[in-house]
Amino acid sequence: MRLDKLLSNAGFGARSQVKRLIRKGHVTVNGEVVKDPGFHVDPEKDEVLVDGEPVLYEENYYIVLNKPAGYVTSTKDRELTVMELLSDIPRFEKLFPVGRLDKDAEGLLLLTTDGELAHRLTHPRWKVPKKYYVVVEGKLTEEAVEPLRKGIELKNFKARPAKVKILKAGDEESEAEIEITEGKYHQVKRMFAAVGHPVKYLKRVEFGGLKLGELPTGQYRHLTEGELRALKALLGLKE
Ligand code: URA
Repeated sequence: MRLDKLLSNAGFGARSQVKRLIRKGHVTVNGEVVKDPGFHVDPEKDEVLVDGEPVLYEENYYIVLNKPAGYVTSTKDRELTVMELLSDIPRFEKLFPVGRLDKDAEGLLLLTTDGELAHRLTHPRWKVPKKYYVVVEGKLTEEAVEPLRKGIELKNFKARPAKVKILKAGDEESEAEIEITEGKYHQVKRMFAAVGHPVKYLKRVEFGGLKLGELPTGQYRHLTEGELRALKALLGLKE
């Protein structure tokens, strides 16, 4: 396979962008800088690095997006969707979001072309942990969040016990982190509302062991090989 095709398929940009990357000397094959976009590589055997990072040969894509507020988690909608933020990825139309973040929510959204992985990540059986940072109305106390830790009864389902850490408790508003292993509609908002502290701001910071880290709002990155391996291991999928 041509080097430029391999990198483009792996999500490093359109052919023209990838060619520029190669010509500028960012790419090595088996330790040697290769500046010819037409150079032939064997994806199974050759080690290709971009700026020292191994290139995933997966046919599938795995993208972490830091979703800004105001975008709908959907592939098609009358409103602005998260797909708008990914349109420079070749074959981005094949990506779909794993689970959902509300329009006003921010943070870690995984998008992939891998149906099996997506299915397991959203299936209750795998109890995939999701961590959110929230700002809520009023002064949070340990007592107030206790029902969330025990497992709270909501309108039509009982939420499993959540891990809750109060980060800051002010008179007007408070900050907390909550980790849940389900993903029901508006779940975190409903949980805090049920204990008298409506959510003012919500951001997902972790998902299935993946961390948002310092990724700026509105930006995306590809999963690293290590992250993908860990995610598949968590879900009982072989590499
Ligand atoms: N819980 C919510 O209430 N909203 C989200 O977007 C995610 C979890």
